[in-house]
Amino acid sequence: MQNKSIQVIGLQKSYKQLHVLKGVDFEVEKGSIFALLGSNGAGKTTVVKILATLLQKDSGTATVNGFDVATNPDHVRQAISLTGQFASVDEILTGRENLIMIAKLRYLHNPRQIAEDLLQRFGLTDAADRRVSTYSGGMRRRLDIALSLVGKPQIIFLDEPTTGLDPEARIEVWKIVKELSDGGTTVFLTTQYLEEAEQLADRIAILHEGRIIASGTLSDLKKLIPSAKVEYVEKQPTLEDIFLAVIGKKEAN
Ligand SMILES: Nc1ncnc2c1ncn2[C@@H]1O[C@H](COP(=O)(O)OP(=O)(O)OP(=O)(O)O)[C@@H](O)[C@H]1O
Ligand SMILES: [Mg+2]
Repeated sequence: MQNKSIQVIGLQKSYKQLHVLKGVDFEVEKGSIFALLGSNGAGKTTVVKILATLLQKDSGTATVNGFDVATNPDHVRQAISLTGQFASVDEILTGRENLIMIAKLRYLHNPRQIAEDLLQRFGLTDAADRRVSTYSGGMRRRLDIALSLVGKPQIIFLDEPTTGLDPEARIEVWKIVKELSDGGTTVFLTTQYLEEAEQLADRIAILHEGRIIASGTLSDLKKLIPSAKVEYVEKQPTLEDIFLAVIGKKEAN
């Protein structure tokens, strides 16, 4: 139990008539990187919001850091941070001011030092005193992730952390995510980029039509479909091949 950061059993959620989550089950090990994949509208953000206590589930159980999200949301909030799908930085403030503000909101000691350390770690020292409105997309995203690390949460949720980033900025974010996990932080991420899941995730789960239809390590998932033979060379399926095969969009050949 203690080595599980997140446990979800039979999770259901509807928005009026729309039954989005129909019984979702998965577990995330402490200190691991877990990637939730799914097409647009599959319900990934809905899962993240329920786990981050921003949205109530209809039924099932969800435990984060050992606490039930429904009955113990305050304890859950103390253990997590969330970087939402859309950047939540304040444009008018500078990068440094954004970080100091969050540290103050969290009643942490020495907000200036916390800001300084994170600016350095995220390569934002030179831009620290410029308004965020002048930052590039990659810089904003880095600041966004830096903000979510104020106060050293044990579990971080990243909802599509690299959407809209150029390849270089994406690789930077991957590096940060790997470092977090190496340091013992649990990372729950959603992504549209299957390569991102291949690169980063210890375990991958595919959400489709309200349920997890496949999950495991990349090599577990590769076993789900037979590898295609190309001439005499055996071709390993990519996560994209597996994804399309399991959601039924393409015949595995
Ligand atoms: N507040 C809401 N009220 C009504 N319907 C909603 C609400 N939030 C989400 N939905 C619907 O629920 C479904 C799942 O949405 P969700 O945002 O969880 O999907 P997603 O997997 O994160 O998609 P994307 O990849 O586009 O971010 C969608 O059909 C969406 O339109
Ligand atoms: Mg989403």
